[in-house]
Amino acid sequence: MEFVTLNNGVEMPMVGFGTDAANDALSYGEVMDAAVQAGYRLFDTAAMYGNQNELGDFLAGSGLKRDDYFLTSKVAQKEQGYENTLQAFKNTTAALQTDYLDLYLVHWPKFDPFFETWRALEHLYKEGYVRAIGVSNFEAHHLDRLLTKATVMPAVDQIETHPYFNQHVLHGYLEELGIQHQAWSPLGRGAVLQDPVLAGIAERYGVSIAQVILRWQIQHNVAVIPKSGNPARMAQNLALDFQLTTTDMARIDALQRGERIMGAPDQNYTEDLW
Ligand code: A2P
Repeated sequence: MEFVTLNNGVEMPMVGFGTDAANDALSYGEVMDAAVQAGYRLFDTAAMYGNQNELGDFLAGSGLKRDDYFLTSKVAQKEQGYENTLQAFKNTTAALQTDYLDLYLVHWPKFDPFFETWRALEHLYKEGYVRAIGVSNFEAHHLDRLLTKATVMPAVDQIETHPYFNQHVLHGYLEELGIQHQAWSPLGRGAVLQDPVLAGIAERYGVSIAQVILRWQIQHNVAVIPKSGNPARMAQNLALDFQLTTTDMARIDALQRGERIMGAPDQNYTEDLW
């Protein structure tokens, strides 16, 4: 398992598991058990996913020791604000049956109580309830705004990233700031998994298209949290012990289309849903 050292010294696995994965034929516990058996030790959840109770029950009965795995959750839009965020943290940790998180993120950039939310995360960090704090779906202008008042630099920005939306400009800015780029939906949910250029590369290396995509992200120092409800694909997504050539990396970079699978952060944050 490859790790990356975050800007505060905390070690985070480069490949984690998106815990909102599902399989019609398996229970939630069976999906999660397959993920643990496959070797995942980073579990990514969010208040918004509505799965924290189930995940907490699973983890409590899994036999894993708490410090054997890295647990990420996110403050939902509705939970933002100073007091709300502190309460949200209590709810989240109670549901997950833990007294700390490894990483706590602001799920979407919403400006109203935004600084207050961050101040609450800084408090939780300084008091030792969370090992690292960060953001999700933050673009450069959101980060710039945050940094006018932040006293702790975010450790991670978790953003939509895949070959059709590779985020190379924001990636450069995150590197400059020392913030770790982590990709959600690294496989792009669908279309990109049929891409003929990726299919050609995958065939030459004797791996799947998904493995090529994940390896490409890791070689760009992008951490990933693929999800799959299928045990064989879960295992495949961890089998990334091969090296793409510079030429193949450039071929995949060139697939950029600026095509998101979800709305842009500035559209999403106005929606009640979030
Ligand atoms: P499934 O659960 O049937 O494996 P993302 O994490 O980028 O949002 O992608 C999730 C989607 O990608 C799911 O639909 C998942 O389907 C599919 N998926 C995950 N891993 C693989 C893989 N190795 N090959 C093909 N599809 C995959």
